[in-house]
Amino acid sequence: DLDRVLATAGDDLVVASNRQPYRHDYGDDGDVTVDRPAGGLTAGLDAVMRRVSGTWIAWGDGDADATVVDEDDRVTVPPDGDDTYTLQRLWLDDAEVEGYYYGVSNRVLWPLCHAALGTVESCGDAWADYRRVNDQFAAELAAASEPGDLVWLHDYHLALAPQQVRERTDGASGDSTPNRTLAHTWHIPWPSWDSFRACPHREEILDGLLGNDVLLFHVPRYCENFLRCAERGLSGAEVDREAGTVTHRGRTTAVRAAPMGVPADRIREQAGSMEATGFCAAFRKNRGIDRDTRLAVGVDRLDYTKGIVERLEAFERLFAERPRWLGEVTFVQVGTESRSSIDAYRRYQERVEAAVERVNDRFATDDWQPVVYTTDMISNEGLAGLYREADLAVVSPIRDGMNLVAQEFVAAQDDDPGVLVLSDQAGAHDVLGEWTVSVRPHDTVWFADALDEALSMDERERRRRGNALADYVTDNDIESWVGTVLGTVAGLGHADGGVTTRAGD
Ligand code: G6P
Repeated sequence: DLDRVLATAGDDLVVASNRQPYRHDYGDDGDVTVDRPAGGLTAGLDAVMRRVSGTWIAWGDGDADATVVDEDDRVTVPPDGDDTYTLQRLWLDDAEVEGYYYGVSNRVLWPLCHAALGTVESCGDAWADYRRVNDQFAAELAAASEPGDLVWLHDYHLALAPQQVRERTDGASGDSTPNRTLAHTWHIPWPSWDSFRACPHREEILDGLLGNDVLLFHVPRYCENFLRCAERGLSGAEVDREAGTVTHRGRTTAVRAAPMGVPADRIREQAGSMEATGFCAAFRKNRGIDRDTRLAVGVDRLDYTKGIVERLEAFERLFAERPRWLGEVTFVQVGTESRSSIDAYRRYQERVEAAVERVNDRFATDDWQPVVYTTDMISNEGLAGLYREADLAVVSPIRDGMNLVAQEFVAAQDDDPGVLVLSDQAGAHDVLGEWTVSVRPHDTVWFADALDEALSMDERERRRRGNALADYVTDNDIESWVGTVLGTVAGLGHADGGVTTRAGD
């Protein structure tokens, strides 16, 4: 069971992600403020790390001086609870951040993996930064772990680090026994070979990831794509599709699907809190949304993969073609600024703003606004409250590894659940799709019809679907995900000298 699995991991778990769960900054008054970044990954992992302790290595974005650190540059978080783990920051200079984070990670790999090939930029010298920063992560991981420990890496920022950890650790003790166990969760889609073959340095990326004992994606589709890419992109790699393994340079990597979940109980609690109810009442009042007006809600980082512009087009069509919804429903879009020093992101923010303005100019009346758009920071309780208050959530990414907003919305519902309108291009659709109203983001006619269907759904059907969704999200929550990942690792039998073999063994 999970407790046993978590207990086994215990202090021996070393995690690495680019993004840190807490950011410390000096405020104007000299006080240190603690912020939590956008994105479900860090929030979910934080919940896990509080349970198991261990060490988390991440880029120390923020003020180095503002963190409360000991002589090893470690900071123990969270500051407000009994459960703690060690957060160890890696400080990068501006040029490194530009090349590694903005350059390769977000100008090349992010659009490439989301099959937005027209948005992929030239790699240039950024590759050297990417490789160097990955090696810095590898050095920290090697130092923070011991033989036998599990090292769990996350996402596309760290594709080279697994092989670099191997180079630093395996054989270091003079024998050839497998050393750390390496698992890596790739949270974004893995593209088809036809897209991936456009990737600069594609062999090195594949080789880096095959330093892992297990490579995890959220849904089987991405596993299949990866196996195909390894087969086509790396000469000498042996792919066993049935077993889901790749053997390369004498090491076998298992490729597995483990769909991530959300802290469902906590979200449900937050949604029912006084703060949540208070937030919703104030939100309606401040934004001029009548008490009886129905709410549809979208919550996203302002990213061109999220389909926000297409969503607004669908609402525009809904209001134009089905005027009975005019004055009846307001669409609330919460947007979080993201990666704004990249042109594609800045341009996207402008397109979102323009689309909001267009729809409002066309349909707003003195006492009703079709779209309310906000980029304000909203607390977790406020968001959960908004999810519960809404009649529907519209989650319509053009492509998305999983999408945790869809699951957070479900978790926040009470026994009078709202409807989830979900893009069939999101990983979340592979697990939730049968109980959602599905859309394809660019098919505006279908999309507008789907919004109409969701708004018109009778109570019985709404409850039937809502209950099924709630059961799934509760049974497959964040802890169950960790259990699956750790169980998969344990199943490899690495501790007994199992699946990981080195050449000549
Ligand atoms: C996605 C990625 C995460 C990332 C998050 C926020 O969910 O999979 O790795 O942390 O977006 O993006 P950011 O660039 O701000 O970390």
